Amino acid sequence: MAFSTVLYKLKGLYKFGKPAPRLRGKVFVNKMGAIQVGKNLSIVGHPWAVQITSTKGANLTFGDNVYVNAGVGIAANKEILIGDNVKIGPRTSIFDSNYHRLDSSDKGELRKSITIGNNVWIGADCTILPGVTIGDNSVIAAKSTVNKNIPNNVLAGGSPAKVIRELKIEDGWVRE
Ligand SMILES: CC(C)(COP(=O)(O)OP(=O)(O)OC[C@H]1O[C@@H](n2cnc3c(N)ncnc32)[C@H](O)[C@@H]1OP(=O)(O)O)[C@@H](O)C(=O)NCCC(=O)NCCS
Repeated sequence: MAFSTVLYKLKGLYKFGKPAPRLRGKVFVNKMGAIQVGKNLSIVGHPWAVQITSTKGANLTFGDNVYVNAGVGIAANKEILIGDNVKIGPRTSIFDSNYHRLDSSDKGELRKSITIGNNVWIGADCTILPGVTIGDNSVIAAKSTVNKNIPNNVLAGGSPAKVIRELKIEDGWVRE
């Protein structure tokens, strides 16, 4: 791979003094706003490209040991906070803006912050909608649409996602 490609891919994701993110395949980074990256960020851009965007004035934060699988799209238009030890399954979308109005009476805020807690696992093909908080240690089952807050330590799933059951999480346990 050409060195310039490596530099392009690292644009905005490399912070001096921290281990460089592990990026494989195609990872497109559109950095107009802030992107903060913790240690050991890993992004798999094959067989589907990953797109990471932070628009002007927005803030996108990755904690330590975050794993982003193929085909994921993350777009911060306001603020997306991703905690430590978070795993994001293939083709999942995390967008903090609706981008478009429903109709002429829709005057609400299009952009609402998203927070994903520590040790969260989001399965494949999920959509995380604006304004949502997913609590620490929780799991979002495959193909779920999360439109409301999910508490700590639960399995949630479906479209819209509902709590399926509580999870047993020992203090300090980190999901493999
Ligand atoms: C959630 C999951 C881990 C299964 O966990 P589990 O504890 O074995 O769950 P079960 O299969 O016993 O199902 C428990 C309940 O959750 C429901 N459920 C399971 N997966 C679901 C899903 N993806 N969407 C909606 N409901 C789901 C089941 O229907 C069941 O409901 P019921 O009790 O009313 O019958 C699995 O279904 C899943 O979604 N895995 C994600 C895999 C993935 O995306 N991997 C990508 C790599 S990161």
